[in-house]
Amino acid sequence: MERLTEGEAIRRWTRARRAEGKRVGFVPTMGNLHAGHLSLVALAREHADVVVASIYVNPTQFDRKDDLAAYPRTLEADAALLEGAGVDALFAPANLYPYGEEAHTTWVDVDELTKELCGATRPGHFRGVTTVVAKLFHLVAPDVAVFGDKDFQQRRVIERMVRDLDFGIAIVPGPIVREADGLAMSSRNSRLGADARARAVAISRALGEARAAVSAGERDGRALEGAVRAMIEAAGGRVDYVELVDEETLSPAAELVAPSILAVAAFFDGVRLIDNARLAP
Ligand code: PAJ
Repeated sequence: MERLTEGEAIRRWTRARRAEGKRVGFVPTMGNLHAGHLSLVALAREHADVVVASIYVNPTQFDRKDDLAAYPRTLEADAALLEGAGVDALFAPANLYPYGEEAHTTWVDVDELTKELCGATRPGHFRGVTTVVAKLFHLVAPDVAVFGDKDFQQRRVIERMVRDLDFGIAIVPGPIVREADGLAMSSRNSRLGADARARAVAISRALGEARAAVSAGERDGRALEGAVRAMIEAAGGRVDYVELVDEETLSPAAELVAPSILAVAAFFDGVRLIDNARLAP
């Protein structure tokens, strides 16, 4: 596996692979990798001849300084995992804002899909994500990029950016990978104490109950949201949001009449966790 830290170096690397007629797949990450990230690498491999992964803890997408400071940084262990997963090149830049974040004045803002859910409670978050992903797409210039559906809204926002700005990169969604008890894998899970870790399983359990309720005929959005919220709060979680939204528009769905996403963000011991379930009538 090649390890590159300079933008020009990864640009040259991808150009050379494409000149050989190879299709380049890309998996952007912030590191502290787990099986969820590695599943995206495997998916990228199915869609491409060579796979690039990136690791960069992007400061502009954190709405809380303490969250950025606490973000786990495990570069050497991550590199070993990526090498084992068959990644061909790792792009791990030290800094993608070399003139300082204050001097950075060009931002990519996706107007639709960013106001609800995480966009409502994390101001500036998606602008940070789309801007850094645009920078990474320009440097890596892949044919296809893989994004996990754990961050469903992020995947939809990136798809819209790619469409609106003609990136010409195919976006492939990856299914949510879970721990044995159902908790969605996340780099933030390592920050949970044993007690909070045990209680946090309430999120995926509640989504499972909602799925069962839909199978039994429940269609009322508020009823589904209320039951999920109650289960998370009973486990000591502080709910940021529980919302049933249309899969396409992300606008609130009062009734389950079209494929929808039941999306959750909740704090356990100050650690913000997200998860979602796709529900169809
Ligand atoms: P990060 O949180 O490291 O996630 C990198 C990719 O892994 C994202 O596409 C995310 O959806 C996916 N992922 C995380 N947990 C997953 C799970 N349990 N199952 C499946 N996929 C999972 O998302 C980011 O980084 C950043 O916002 C980034 C896109 C890199 C821009 O900075």
